[in-house]
Amino acid sequence: MGRPRIVVLISGTGSNLQAVVDACAAGHIGADVVGVVSNDSDAYGLVRADAAGIDTRLVVAHADESRQAYDTRLADAVASFDPDWVLLAGWMRLLTMAFLDRFTGVVVNLHPALPGELPGTRSIERAWAEALAGDRSSSGVMVHLVPDEGVDDGPTLGSRVVPVDTSGTLEQFATDVHDAEHALLVEVLASLCAPTTTDQEGPPT
Ligand code: GAR
Repeated sequence: MGRPRIVVLISGTGSNLQAVVDACAAGHIGADVVGVVSNDSDAYGLVRADAAGIDTRLVVAHADESRQAYDTRLADAVASFDPDWVLLAGWMRLLTMAFLDRFTGVVVNLHPALPGELPGTRSIERAWAEALAGDRSSSGVMVHLVPDEGVDDGPTLGSRVVPVDTSGTLEQFATDVHDAEHALLVEVLASLCAPTTTDQEGPPT
């Protein structure tokens, strides 16, 4: 059996994509990123994928296209890479079951907040605002499975707490969150992609 095949869905900068690609190349994750799919032609992650020699697909939503119709096209693009794992790393569109039913049990999402907290967009800024208001002293990051249409919700694969130091800057807090994400994502994928005892067995003698 070959190394697990990871397809990464991105919408923007792709720093987490880069962390995963680098960790695969360094042998810290026993898998290969075989494809990158973006919904935005300006996503810098596409430049990163090109630089790493990884095949890309751009799936831009058409005006008036239903979410289900888009997700069917997206699923076709992802399926063309024959993935073992589908990683949402800064993917900023909500997925419907039209997508998720095609990849049961293998869709993994990264979110810059702790389980059950701050779902949706601008989670880092919202955590910072809550800390300034005296309502929190830490936030965090998580990686979880995506079984259904719940937003940034699903069985947790890993999480890390990140302190919010309001004597510093939002920029520094954001950097701390992203550093924690890069480390956690590599750790979780390394575990998911580790060979099982069955994989390591040779053919029957
Ligand atoms: C990351 O912070 C990721 O957790 C977040 O988008 C950023 C993408 O950064 N995702 C969400 O907020 C999902 N709700 P990147 O493009 O540099 O990897």
